Amino acid sequence: MDTRFDFNRSDLETPPETEPDRQLYFIDLCRNYIRRKKEQDGKDLTYAVITFGCQMNAHDSEKLRGILDQIGYIETDSEEADLVIYNTCTVRENANQKLYGHLGPLKKKKQENPDMMIGLCGCMMQEPEVIEKIRTSYSYVDIVFGTHNIYKLAELIFRRLTEEKSVIEVLKEAEKTVETLPQKRKYPFKSGVNIMFGCNNFCSYCIVPYVRGRERSRTPEDILEEIKKLAEDGVKEVMLLGQNVNSYGTNFISESEIINVRPAYGFPELLEDVCRIPGIERVRFMTSHPKDLSDRLIEVMKKEPKICKHIHLPVQSGSTGILKKMNRRYSKEQYLLLVDKLRQKMPDISITTDIIVGFPGETEEDFQDTLDVVSKAAYDQAFTFVYSKRTGTPAAAMEDQIPEDVIKDRFDRLLSLIHDISAEQTKRFQGMTKPVLVEEINRQDKNFVTGRLEYNTVVHFPGDASLIGQIVNVKLLEAKGFYFIGEME
Ligand code: SAH
Ligand code: SF4
Ligand code: F3S
Repeated sequence: MDTRFDFNRSDLETPPETEPDRQLYFIDLCRNYIRRKKEQDGKDLTYAVITFGCQMNAHDSEKLRGILDQIGYIETDSEEADLVIYNTCTVRENANQKLYGHLGPLKKKKQENPDMMIGLCGCMMQEPEVIEKIRTSYSYVDIVFGTHNIYKLAELIFRRLTEEKSVIEVLKEAEKTVETLPQKRKYPFKSGVNIMFGCNNFCSYCIVPYVRGRERSRTPEDILEEIKKLAEDGVKEVMLLGQNVNSYGTNFISESEIINVRPAYGFPELLEDVCRIPGIERVRFMTSHPKDLSDRLIEVMKKEPKICKHIHLPVQSGSTGILKKMNRRYSKEQYLLLVDKLRQKMPDISITTDIIVGFPGETEEDFQDTLDVVSKAAYDQAFTFVYSKRTGTPAAAMEDQIPEDVIKDRFDRLLSLIHDISAEQTKRFQGMTKPVLVEEINRQDKNFVTGRLEYNTVVHFPGDASLIGQIVNVKLLEAKGFYFIGEME
């Protein structure tokens, strides 16, 4: 065997069968490889994880970075690193195109650096056509894995090093979740926490259920244990993550784990338990599906001061007819009633949303309904997307796909309305003093820091690095569109 792979492990022949021991074993073997490389070449090997897509993916990347740090790779943000991993998104076609734009130039870099490895993972890799394209047009990619086996990164790297050929391992459905592997957080004071994986909703435009698999909730015990450890480690704010957190607890990960779960334990109960963890000062969650938002959740949000008064409640369209074709399972009226209920119980709440423009068959009248909902719901912020046809989803086969110029015109009108309404909404806090969790030094002016209100609104104010991670009272002097300029009290 090549001396680079002389890992000096007496138990090399027998990797453990059970997790996480198996992965810890492979982490160990890879660590020996990195150490030996350093002895031979006198340099550290570096890595970069490039993330596309949503908060779920960002959190998955923290797990990848945790494993790579343990192995002994040194993190950089340059795509010249010895190991570059792209954690991909495929929710819209343009997310997909982005990856190929990055991959092309890497071929040459790989020729220049024989140590270089390229890894691809995430949602896009769950699509068989993508794997085919990578095999044929990007065969210099070293490791390909999907959304269900990111915990296996060390094992896959080890296989790539020893087998001397590309390693492609994509699973259709999750086999297991591995709870105790390392994670490297972007911020020391806040963290995402998965409470569930996958999605069962099958909105007719959306590819997520196909690439993330069936909905599975983690047990409350595992979630609470993880958050306790985060709190002990200095985390003040957690964001509970799931495609539809309101249906938490419907399907637990495995039968055997259900034993410890209390009957009727759902998302509101989980939130209450999270709020009891000492050290945690702010609790957020994302995403809420309007069809499952219960009165009990609203009650818990209202009474628990640690829960941020912000809800991301994607409406997607304001037209009942389009919502039906989208398989969203609520009407325009039901959505607006929900918004009223939230505002009645929590008058200061901030509501944000996602909207798709140009779903097949969307008429001007349907679009007017969307504008109407935007006016009535008075969103603090709305993320707007041009409908993107995803192969294999029911909407891709629908008639009446909307022409680009019509979509563009509607998109511009929607954006301008949102701009006005959100600016108006943000102003409601002007002149008040509110707690801000300081996140970072301002990117434009190093004499300022940037943080967030519980409403998720960004605030910039004069301050220095010593404030990062602290919650401080800030007077909100001037609303500027989506954000505030303030002054510490
Ligand atoms: N689970 C979340 C959303 C996840 S995807 C929810 O149900 O709200 C994030 C957003 O991407 C969606 O809210 C939707 O607005 C948008 N999106 C999903 N599929 C899309 C498509 N095919 N075209 C355009 N936007 C899409
Ligand atoms: Fe996609 Fe709908 Fe699931 Fe959200 S709830 S991830 S939009 S299928
Ligand atoms: Fe994209 Fe996957 Fe998230 S498709 S939006 S990264 S769940």
